[in-house]
Amino acid sequence: MQTATSPNIYDLTEEQLAVRDAARDFAQSELWAGVIERDEHQKFPAAQVKKMGELGFMGMMVSPEYGGSGLDTVSYVLAMEEISKVDASCSVIMSVNNSLVCWGLEKYGTEEQKQKYLPRLCSGEIIGAFALSEPEAGSDATSQRTTAEDMGDHYLLNGTKNWITNGTTASVYLVIAQTHPEKKSRGINVLIVDKDMPGFIQGPKENKLGIRGSDTCSLMFTDVQVPKENRIGDDGFGFKFAMQVLAGGRIGIAAQALGIASGALELSLKYSKERKAFGVPISQHQAIQFKLADMATNIDAARLLCLQSAADKDSGQDYAKSGAMAKLFASKVAMDSAVEAVQIHGGYGFVKEYHVERFMRDAKITQIYEGTSEIQKIVISRELLK
Ligand code: CAA
Repeated sequence: MQTATSPNIYDLTEEQLAVRDAARDFAQSELWAGVIERDEHQKFPAAQVKKMGELGFMGMMVSPEYGGSGLDTVSYVLAMEEISKVDASCSVIMSVNNSLVCWGLEKYGTEEQKQKYLPRLCSGEIIGAFALSEPEAGSDATSQRTTAEDMGDHYLLNGTKNWITNGTTASVYLVIAQTHPEKKSRGINVLIVDKDMPGFIQGPKENKLGIRGSDTCSLMFTDVQVPKENRIGDDGFGFKFAMQVLAGGRIGIAAQALGIASGALELSLKYSKERKAFGVPISQHQAIQFKLADMATNIDAARLLCLQSAADKDSGQDYAKSGAMAKLFASKVAMDSAVEAVQIHGGYGFVKEYHVERFMRDAKITQIYEGTSEIQKIVISRELLK
């Protein structure tokens, strides 16, 4: 069982610290026990997500007016880290719901859209999904093949989406689709699609390397009639919407990566003090000490970047660059730390009971989704060269 907390490196407020502690208590008491089984059987954490909704973790940054917790992005980062230390599947479900669905709906949705969806999304009664990636449009997000044909009072939606987190369990989907191909990125729309709309089907769950408790699948749309009032923003706003929500989403995934890394360090510290070799706990060997020191140093640096990007967002500054930097760095730290944690655990690290092999599998996706590490470098360099 993990007990350590993140240090108060950023002069966190009492409220932010209370959120962090509540997330840690929840993760330790409600997520730790079944996490290996959920991972092994790809079991969606339905009861745990419901509890996260009750505790206010599913709509953390949404105003209380719409059923949210009304907290800042710094609090969200702190909660994401604590939950990811134990179960990165739960934290990606939480991250997509918070960053990609609730945030975009509250910022750009109409009053009717907000009233209709946000209270239930925040309470955990329903879950949201964000559908941008396609078989041939992952990194190259402007190349949308899914079409939303303007039929006057509704859009006719046709196409396929891939790799959709919360794909089989969501009730509401924000779907990005092309309406005016000649306008390229300015011809793309974002539509709210309800799960039971005729012509919409969800594919089978993908059998994944990591974050196996979360469900990922393809979505197929065949002549789905989506009412015009389900469009978010003006005609052609969809690509900018997607870029905006992904910019914020990257802060959440950076915090997820940070949590995986700090969880791997905590387990490594505990194990290295217990496990003896050559007559002493392995923590007394420099070979292990050097690994622990590198992990801790990188994790503290990653936390600073995560909190910096969250603070940028909270203070109304541009956070595209700092969020991409946080995700780029924290996801590498997650991968490196998890690999080192397995090494420190030796043979035990290679079996499921010791958790670190799961951290190693879960860490990899943080370098891929919401933009690969290569995409983060493109975003960062474009901002630098502006
Ligand atoms: N905010 C607002 N607008 C933005 C923006 C931002 N952060 N980034 C770009 N835009 C705007 C540009 O200003 C431009 O607008 P104008 O036409 O008015 O000038 C428009 O969007 C097009 O921008 P670009 O020409 O820069 O677009 P591009 O095709 O070169 O793409 C990219 C840029 C950064 C590579 C982008 O395609 C990208 O981020 N790709 C990665 C997508 C991604 O993250 N996919 C992951 C899928 S989602 C997921 O993983 C969720 C999950 O389930 C966990």
